[in-house]
Amino acid sequence: MARKKIIAGNWKMNMTPSQAVKLVETLKPLVGNEGVDVVFCVPAIDIIPVLEAAKGSNIQVGAENMYFEEKGAYTGEISPAMLEEVGVKYVVLGHSERRQYFAETSETVNKKMLKAFEHGITPIMCCGETLEQREQGITMDWIRQQVKVGFQNVTADQAKTAVIAYEPIWAIGTGKTATTEQAQEVCAGIRACIAEIYDEATAAEIRIQYGGSVNAKTAPDLFAQADIDGGLVGGASLKEEFGQIVNYK
Ligand code: PGA
Repeated sequence: MARKKIIAGNWKMNMTPSQAVKLVETLKPLVGNEGVDVVFCVPAIDIIPVLEAAKGSNIQVGAENMYFEEKGAYTGEISPAMLEEVGVKYVVLGHSERRQYFAETSETVNKKMLKAFEHGITPIMCCGETLEQREQGITMDWIRQQVKVGFQNVTADQAKTAVIAYEPIWAIGTGKTATTEQAQEVCAGIRACIAEIYDEATAAEIRIQYGGSVNAKTAPDLFAQADIDGGLVGGASLKEEFGQIVNYK
């Protein structure tokens, strides 16, 4: 069975609730595509207005982060149950910005992965190397470690439903998209790693996105690669261009 493409916007810390509603209204008619899962990952405070505004469309809503405890004294955090109750279907975990600025580690990402599955929320687990690591030739070692730790104690059945986003850090928000070959090579390596941890059947089902300066021009080639099942899109997901990315062919 062919894997269904999944194209997700990552709004990051952009869009107040009223701006968010306007953006959804603008994008709603542009992102229709039956063949693709379309997800808007938005700031926590925008989730409810975006869910409302997206009603009747194919847009699914995701969070950009969540905590791994059920509830309690964790000031400022959002629990998986809170997301589940309002109808959030996806959560971005371990984005490089969270690893860089908010001390997220592969171990905390793993705890969040397990919690997300418990609550029926699909994780979009991010991984990716720095420019320095790429130049040192340790890209795949680094990413394999992120994937192996991130998926600890995740069952094969859960892993089959997961999404991994390969985002080279040097390509995020820089306008420097990885070449199609570079992106395909690492995504194939990630799939091979999943086959090692689990089996070929799991590797064949898991969806792997590319992220990092994806735009309407680069999307068609990237998404045509054998191991690239869509994209995680930052900057271009805040513009009408996102409609062209979703309808890349
Ligand atoms: P970008 O962000 O498309 O703006 O590079 C991608 C991401 O960080 O998910």
